Amino acid sequence: MFQKIKGTQDFLDLSLLQFILKISSEHLNLHNFNQIELPILEACDLFKRTVGTQTDIVNKEMFVIEPRAGSSESICLRPESTAQTMRAFLENGIQILPWKVFSYGAMFRYERPQKGRYRQFQQCNIEVIGADSIDQDVMLISMLDNLFTKLYIPNYALVLNFLGCTQDRNNFREILKDFLVKQSNICDTCENRSQTNPLRVFDCKNESCQQIYVSAPKIIEHLCDSCNGEWQQLKNHLELLGISFAVKPELVRGLDYYNKTVFEFSSTALGAQSSFCGGGRYELASQLGSKNQVPSIGAAFGMDRVLLILETIKDQLPIAKKPALTVIVPLSPAQNMLALLVAQNLGQHNLSHDIILEDDTSVKSKMRKANKLGPNYCVLIGESEQVQHSVMLKNMVTGAEQLIKQVDLINYLKN
Ligand code: HAM
Repeated sequence: MFQKIKGTQDFLDLSLLQFILKISSEHLNLHNFNQIELPILEACDLFKRTVGTQTDIVNKEMFVIEPRAGSSESICLRPESTAQTMRAFLENGIQILPWKVFSYGAMFRYERPQKGRYRQFQQCNIEVIGADSIDQDVMLISMLDNLFTKLYIPNYALVLNFLGCTQDRNNFREILKDFLVKQSNICDTCENRSQTNPLRVFDCKNESCQQIYVSAPKIIEHLCDSCNGEWQQLKNHLELLGISFAVKPELVRGLDYYNKTVFEFSSTALGAQSSFCGGGRYELASQLGSKNQVPSIGAAFGMDRVLLILETIKDQLPIAKKPALTVIVPLSPAQNMLALLVAQNLGQHNLSHDIILEDDTSVKSKMRKANKLGPNYCVLIGESEQVQHSVMLKNMVTGAEQLIKQVDLINYLKN
């Protein structure tokens, strides 16, 4: 027997996923975002240049497809969607700015699977490309905050940090290195990161390293005047909009393309993988060969994690009920053709239906099969009903049976 690949999932009931897709698409359309769809396959270099070669995502987690004989093309399954949205923006010569788009789709990261962490997972990715004003950050965060309220996500929290401009980060790296070099008890990974990518030490899960970083210098204390002004404005405008947040100076996020604003939404319902949405400001156009700077802001939320949160309160959600079902039961194969005609008629009138066509000898067993489908009505067709151009309509809630003319069936079910 085959089993699914480690870190992947089968979804056998899509009602909750469809609820999330419906609410989020409507909400994003309302805010003038357009839905786009991008490929799952992209060039490895796209992510190396943007997400960064020193990140776990690129360094350890990429699903790279072996090049075909004679080809040197290095292709991977996308680990995220921001870099490719920027690629699509540049490649398609989009002129209307800001370009406000969103997309849904599968992402792939070779992570160690656990609850809320999969190797294939789904994101809703949202980007505002070509948006310089810090108030675009406020707008995006506020829009997401409203969306998570509309999705009934309980008790979520928003954390924010500000990573400054490139110059701020270059200066801060040296300040942080000076601090790290004086620490004798940091783990080997942090030791290594202190040389290659010092800001990433804040991501360390090691408790004793985290203790040390409590007293580490913080980037928000080392911003230039212009960045500090934007940081203050961001917090101030979020407060004025009544959005609750906490400042988390250690928040650096696992992708290297961020500058200035970074943020995450998390929920205690998720356990260790508590963050269900993350995003921030970035400038990727120059890494992808453009002469122009294209300041942008975006975020992605993980559908799998939102599903896990909502699973616990599914019964309280306004999920659209399936339409009332009618099951047609021909009592012998001689009535199958008539049953098919009735089914065709119900379909043409948008009435949800199913039909029992298996050639079971006993009517009892056919009715048991029909019952398992959870119908509101069963339409029973035996020889005598056939002769009388009628059907026996059984109300599956009350058990009442009624002989009605075939021509009256649609009207009856519609009313
Ligand atoms: P990210 O934080 O890597 O950001 O992922 C965003 C969300 O995807 C996470 O908050 C989480 O819900 C979900 N996610 C990530 N990895 C996994 C996994 N292994 N299993 C299940 N869910 C996962 C980005 O991907 C950025 N591209 C977001 C962004 C858009 N920044 C700017 N624009």
